[in-house]
Amino acid sequence: MTNIYKIAGLDLPHIDPNDRLQRILRSALPNYSDSSSQQQSDYWNAKFFNLHQVKIFQQASVAEQSAILKLTNRSLLEESYFIEKAGVGYMAKMVLLAETVEERMLYALFTADEATHLSQITNFLPELEPTNSNDPFLSLLAEVVESADKTVLLFVLQVVLEGWGLSHYRRLAKECRHPILAELFTSFLHAEARHHGTGTTLFNQISVAASSQTAILDVLAQFLSMVQVGPQNVLAAVEQVKGHLSRSQKIQILEELDTQTHSGTRLQILRSLMRGASAQAIVQALDERGAFEPLSPQKCVY
Ligand SMILES: [Fe+2]
Ligand SMILES: [Fe+2]
Repeated sequence: MTNIYKIAGLDLPHIDPNDRLQRILRSALPNYSDSSSQQQSDYWNAKFFNLHQVKIFQQASVAEQSAILKLTNRSLLEESYFIEKAGVGYMAKMVLLAETVEERMLYALFTADEATHLSQITNFLPELEPTNSNDPFLSLLAEVVESADKTVLLFVLQVVLEGWGLSHYRRLAKECRHPILAELFTSFLHAEARHHGTGTTLFNQISVAASSQTAILDVLAQFLSMVQVGPQNVLAAVEQVKGHLSRSQKIQILEELDTQTHSGTRLQILRSLMRGASAQAIVQALDERGAFEPLSPQKCVY
C-alpha cells in the first residue's frame, strides 16, 4: 500500500549497513550509540498488555507465552518506528509551510528530532522489514500527512496525535523493563512536548474554516473508531500463536483484557487534548457521534 503517499515515506527502504552514507549519518547523529547487541523481546511484560488476566494466555506453554509477548512487543516498537519515520517527512513539509522565520527554524529543528528518534528506534528493531502491511492507523496517518490544509495538519497531527504520543511514550518509558530502552523513550518526551506545544500555539492563532473543521472531524472520527475497538493487536497476537479463535473466544479475551477500561482511558486522554475555543465545536460534534464511547467486547469483534 501507500506508495501514493510520499510525504510519510512509510515504505522508504534502508540502505546497506556498510554503505558509506551510513558512516556519515552516524557521525551526524547526536549521541549515536548502537544498541543492537541488546535486543530482547520482553521489554514490556504480560501485565503491561493485561495479558496476565487472559485465561488462554495463562494456560499457554511458556514458549507460547513468550511468542505472544514477542509479537506484542514487536508491534509496539514497529508502531513507534513508523510514527517517527512519518514524523521526519511531516516536519520537513512544515518547514516549507512556515510563515515566519522562527516557525521555519522550529520545524527544521523538529525534523532533526524525528530523524534522531527514528535512528534510535531502528537500533532496537533487528531484521527490519519496513513494510507497514495494512495497518489502518498508519494508512490514515500517511493520508493525513498529505493534506494541503495546514489547520488540519496542525490539529490532527500536532495537537492530537503528538499529544497522544507524549502520554503513550511516557507510559512505554515507565513500564519498560529494559533500562536503556526506557531511558530512550524518556529522552523523547521533551522533544515531543515541544512538537505538541508548537502545534497547539499555532492552531490557537488560526480561525478554523468550515472546510477544515469538516476534514478534521472526518479524520478524527476514523481515528477514534480505531481506539474504540480496543487492543486488537494483542488479540491478533494471541490468535497468531494459539491458532484460530472463535467469535465467543475473542469476546472472552477482550473481556479479560478489560477492553472497555483500556479504550475508555485512551479516549478520555484524546478528548482532553482537544481543548481551547477553536476545538470546542469539534469536540461537541464528536461527542454527538459517540466517538469517545468505548465499545463493549461484543461490538469490538466483527
Ligand atoms: Fe518523535
Ligand atoms: Fe514528534
